[in-house]
Amino acid sequence: MSLLSERPAPARLPVTPLGPHFGAELHGIDLGRLDDDEVLALREALVAYKVLFVRGQHGLDDAAQIEFGRRLGEVTAGHPVHDSGDVAPEVYSLDSQDNGFADVWHTDVTFVRRPPAISVLRAVVLPPSGGDTSWADSQSAYESLSPGLRDFVDTLTAVHDGTREFGYYLARRRGGRGNVWEGEVFTELTPVEHPVVRVHPESGHKGLFVNPGFTSHIVGVSEHESRGILDILYAHLTRPEHVVRHRWRPGDVALWDNRSTAHYANRDYGDRHRVMHRITLRGDIPAGPAAVRR
Ligand SMILES: [Fe+2]
Repeated sequence: MSLLSERPAPARLPVTPLGPHFGAELHGIDLGRLDDDEVLALREALVAYKVLFVRGQHGLDDAAQIEFGRRLGEVTAGHPVHDSGDVAPEVYSLDSQDNGFADVWHTDVTFVRRPPAISVLRAVVLPPSGGDTSWADSQSAYESLSPGLRDFVDTLTAVHDGTREFGYYLARRRGGRGNVWEGEVFTELTPVEHPVVRVHPESGHKGLFVNPGFTSHIVGVSEHESRGILDILYAHLTRPEHVVRHRWRPGDVALWDNRSTAHYANRDYGDRHRVMHRITLRGDIPAGPAAVRR
């Protein structure tokens, strides 16, 4: 594991932080024309600020978005289950006219063993107003819990299950055959376990790694206790102090570290059209504090 502090200082990128710990805007760059030092600096800024916003990327199409992703990491299928339709297999098109909403706090694809490390989202069609996306900082949220509660949640494991969100879709619309994920056709939404507190593989920082979209319950406690623990963690994670909200403009791209954030897309634009194209980069198997101490 290489910690940020052990790396050489990155090339300078025009970064404007949005708050002391979380979120930053990058100005005056073209994601399709970064040099290698800038790619490295962007990757490090992403780990440090967790979500980055880049305006004015009007020249970026699907192919250029995928190409940019390949410079940052290993691009996965757009989604394990969702049909990519008439876009490239690496692209997940979230189209409001095809029920493509994300109006529940979630971290992308945590219902698999290796959830994506990074997501890159591009505005394709925006409603005239509304449709903002918010991100929550799971590391600040963890750090601002009381010490006793931190010690307790450090020990917990949770089950993540994509059935509620994608079970019907996989069975009925895909006939039980999803996309190639981790080298195999994805056929079953088998629930997986992840640590409730994840140690970031690059920064070493701890963050909450549960989300209302896919976490079904905490292992080894009663259903009632699980509900109570998760409710406390979700309410804390999504406090305004831990959240940035982005008002999309045409040409905007948002990138986030999916290992240290959750997000929510406001569904407040009625029947107006909204299309976002997402790509994801392959991640590792989440490690908890006990695994890292070992
Ligand atoms: Fe998402």
